[in-house]
Amino acid sequence: MSETAYLSSVRASYDAVAVDCARLLGTALDGRPLDRALLAAFAESVRAGGPRGAAGPAVADLGCGPGRITAHLNRLGVRAFGVDLSPAMVAVARRSHPGLRFEVGAMGSLDVADGALAGAVAWHSTLHTPPEELPSLFGEFARVLAPGGHLLLAFGAGEGRVRLDRAYGHAVDLTVHRMPPDRVAELLSGAGLAESARLVRQPEAGEDCPQGFLLARKASPAA
Ligand SMILES: C[S@@+](CC[C@H](N)C(=O)[O-])C[C@H]1O[C@@H](n2cnc3c(N)ncnc32)[C@H](O)[C@@H]1O
Repeated sequence: MSETAYLSSVRASYDAVAVDCARLLGTALDGRPLDRALLAAFAESVRAGGPRGAAGPAVADLGCGPGRITAHLNRLGVRAFGVDLSPAMVAVARRSHPGLRFEVGAMGSLDVADGALAGAVAWHSTLHTPPEELPSLFGEFARVLAPGGHLLLAFGAGEGRVRLDRAYGHAVDLTVHRMPPDRVAELLSGAGLAESARLVRQPEAGEDCPQGFLLARKASPAA
């Protein structure tokens, strides 16, 4: 499937599920202490070390969906904004979090200047990217991060892919790619993003595979 076809399917599928996805994901972080711990560690690292704009370090939530992670990061004291391919998801995010910034966009070609971000999060949003496109995607993440900037990825840890034709009660056309954390770390490293920590936890309610989390950092000239 060409990149255009894959992005079109992802956009159309998430447009269809946006409202129900937001409702079902709404409080999911409440019962996930390890996930919250990683987001807190990421936010603290960004606050401590990131380059600062006038209003604090800027962080992009890439593939933000309904904006729950964007909002959580803002509560943790970083100036996060969301980007998502799906206009319906962005509409839900704007409605749910009226004080925050959300834009429609593809995370593989961001409308963000080189080195503008102190941090970026892709929280279960790289899962539909075909593995052969990950080097280019991670290259784009590295481009927008400032030297010393932090990246946090959450993804389904494992091998292979799963086809989905229904999700959140709607017809969809999605492929979910699982990746071994070693492979993700290797690809990040190839893009200039060095692993600083990782966690793999067992699946919890509503999850069908172990969950991988990787923190990485763009090299800074002083390092
Ligand atoms: C499983 S949802 C996760 C949403 C959000 N990160 C969360 O955890 O609540 C995946 C989201 O990633 C978005 N997405 C997938 N591929 C994308 C791409 N290439 N560019 C921008 N958004 C993308 C989808 O539109 C969808 O909203």
